[in-house]
Amino acid sequence: MRVLGIETSCDETALAVVKKNDKGEFEIEKHLLASQVLVHEKFGGVVPEVAAREHIASIFPILDELGIEKDGHGIDAIAVTSGPGLVPALRIGVELGKVLSWVWKKPLVAVNHLEGHIYSVLINPTPKTQHPKPKFTALCLLVSGGHTELILMKDHGDYELIGMTRDDAAGEAFDKVAKLLGLGYPGGPVIAKSAEQGNPKAISFPRPMIDSDDFDFSFSGLKTAVKREMRSERTERSKMSERHNTADIAASFQQAVVETLVTKTMRAVEKYQPQSVILSGGVSANQLLRLSLKQVLYKQYPEISFHAPELFLTGDNAIMIAIAGAHHAMKNEFVDPLTLVADPNMRLV
Ligand code: KG4
Ligand code: ZN
Repeated sequence: MRVLGIETSCDETALAVVKKNDKGEFEIEKHLLASQVLVHEKFGGVVPEVAAREHIASIFPILDELGIEKDGHGIDAIAVTSGPGLVPALRIGVELGKVLSWVWKKPLVAVNHLEGHIYSVLINPTPKTQHPKPKFTALCLLVSGGHTELILMKDHGDYELIGMTRDDAAGEAFDKVAKLLGLGYPGGPVIAKSAEQGNPKAISFPRPMIDSDDFDFSFSGLKTAVKREMRSERTERSKMSERHNTADIAASFQQAVVETLVTKTMRAVEKYQPQSVILSGGVSANQLLRLSLKQVLYKQYPEISFHAPELFLTGDNAIMIAIAGAHHAMKNEFVDPLTLVADPNMRLV
C-alpha cells in the first residue's frame, strides 16, 4: 500500500508518500516541505491569506518534485488534512486532494490534523530503525500552536477527549510571550533558546489550573503575568541588564508551562492508568517538556512506555497525515471527493 499525504493546514506546504513494507510497517518513501516561517515572521504570526498564497505557489512544484507518475500509478490512496486549521490554507490541500482523487480515480481520506500529530510517533524515520509502538490505551498530550489537549486513544481511530485548553494553546502562549519579549517568531524555539541563559526560578509565574480537578488548561493568564512582570522590570531596568531579564522571563515562563503540562498529564495517568503516554504536536520539540515528562513518568510508572516523535516530525508535515490516512484506508474509511470541504473546527471526537 502506498499513500500520498497532503498537509496545508497552517504555514507548511507538505507532501509525502509512505509505503507499507513486507513486515506491515509504514516507511517514508519521499517527503517534501516548503516552510513559510520566514514569510510570516515579519507579521509576528501566520496570516491566513498569505499562507494560502504561499501554498498555491509551492504545492504544484512540490507535487512535481515528488515524482509520482502523471496518472497516479502506484498510489493506492490520497490522504489530506481537511481540518482543523486556517480555512484559506486548508482549502489548497483539500482541493488538490479532491482533484487528484477524481482524476486518478484513487480513494480519498480526510485526515484530522490532530490525529496526524498523534500518528507522528508511529513513524520509523528510516527502514532500519525500529520504533517501539505505543500500546493502547494510550494517553496523548497534544500540544501545538492551535491545540492543547489530553486525549485517550483506546485503539486506532477510537478517541476520548478528557481535557483541553479553555483559552490559548501552549504553542500560542510561547508565540505571544516571544512577541512580548521581542524575540521573534515562532516563539517556541526562540524562548527555549533564550531560556538556556536564564534562571527558571527567577520569577514565580502562576501554574494555571494546576490544582483544578479536571484535565483542562488555561494559558492566557500566564501571558498577562509575563506582561505585568515586564512592566515592573522596566521600572527597575537600572538594576539588571535587559538581556538577563529577558532570559530569566523566558526560562521562568517555559518552566511554568512545562510544569503545568507535566503535572496535569501525570494526574491523568494516575486516573486512567494507560499502557503508554504519547507526547506530540509542535511544542513536543521542547526539550524541557520532553525530558521532564519522560523522567517523571519513568520514575513513577516504569511500566508505562513514553513516545515522542522524532524532532523533524514534531512540526507540521505530510508524513504523519499519510500514515494516519493509511490506517483509515485499511478500514475503507473514505470520503467523496465531490463533496469534501475544509473544516476549520474539525473535531477528533
Ligand atoms: O504543530 P505545529 O507545528 O502547528 C500547529 O498545528 O499549530 O505547532 C507549532 C507550535 C508553535 O506555536 C511553536 O511556537 C511551537 O509549536 N513550538 C515550540 C517549540 N518548537 C515549536 N514550543 C515550545 N518549544 C519548542 N522548542
Ligand atoms: Zn500541527
